[in-house]
Amino acid sequence: MIADIVFLNGQFLPLADAKISPLDRGFLFADGVYEVIPVYSRQPFRLDEHLRRLQASLDGIRLPNPYSHAQWQARVREMIGHAPFADAQIYLQVTRGADSKRDHAFPTGVAPTVFMFAGPLVTPGESVRTLGVSAVTAVDNRWLRCDLKTLALLANVLLRQQAVDHGCAETILVRDGFVTEGAASNVFLVKNGVLLAPPKSHLMLPGVTYDVVLELAARHGVPTEVRDILADELPEADELWMTSSTKEVLAIATLDGRPVGHGAAAGKPGPLAERMWQWYQQFKNDVMRTGRDD
Ligand code: PDD
Repeated sequence: MIADIVFLNGQFLPLADAKISPLDRGFLFADGVYEVIPVYSRQPFRLDEHLRRLQASLDGIRLPNPYSHAQWQARVREMIGHAPFADAQIYLQVTRGADSKRDHAFPTGVAPTVFMFAGPLVTPGESVRTLGVSAVTAVDNRWLRCDLKTLALLANVLLRQQAVDHGCAETILVRDGFVTEGAASNVFLVKNGVLLAPPKSHLMLPGVTYDVVLELAARHGVPTEVRDILADELPEADELWMTSSTKEVLAIATLDGRPVGHGAAAGKPGPLAERMWQWYQQFKNDVMRTGRDD
């Protein structure tokens, strides 16, 4: 359940009173972008990074940002104040607004629609983390601007549903033989003690959590290679992880029905996943305590 008070076009109001036009281009064309920002103990985590990615997504779809960085910061913080949860996820989206007709080309003189709500942040619990989750692979059939966090998520929805249909948590996407990301997460591999991550490109979302994980790996001396990863490397991996603002760092223990990893460790979260999760928690707590995240 989301919090009762939501933000719509400059106002905080009850969800039941939040109305938008059926001609909104978000509804007709998925013509808009969004962000999901985790909040711990009422403090947003990596807010500036999320707002910078929002700006990049808006630039990518040629939609002027309706608010300055400072205005967004203030509104997100006000939204957190309205939420009944200390740990929350703030969802925000900006669409190209509602015209008086349906025409693919950009309308003129139409104000964007800005919508924001708070939901509870439920990160994976202890039992899920110790067992790890299952995933399937699928062909990444999305468009060529996966770096933009747009509302046009139908391909992601269908791909993620493939996982659910198989009783799995995530779908790992493969384009032209290379691993791109998950349907709603980024992907990391571990091989012979080296953390492997696909490089940022137009084929994947530049995850805020992805950046944190790479920063923590560097800080703790984990050898890392950011390079193209072949799908053929997946069955050879010692560990496989998914990362996102809501899942944090989560080990994938089974892929396409086969255990991830080798020997006695096969089919279980690996040691580096556990260490990275600990570092992530520690980092979060330090940030929340000091307000600094460098
Ligand atoms: N999704 N890739 C995709 C396709 C995603 O949808 C997400 C996150 C990520 C991870 O990004 P980040 O670390 O910044 O959360 C990667 C959010 C959580 C969602 O759509 O709900």
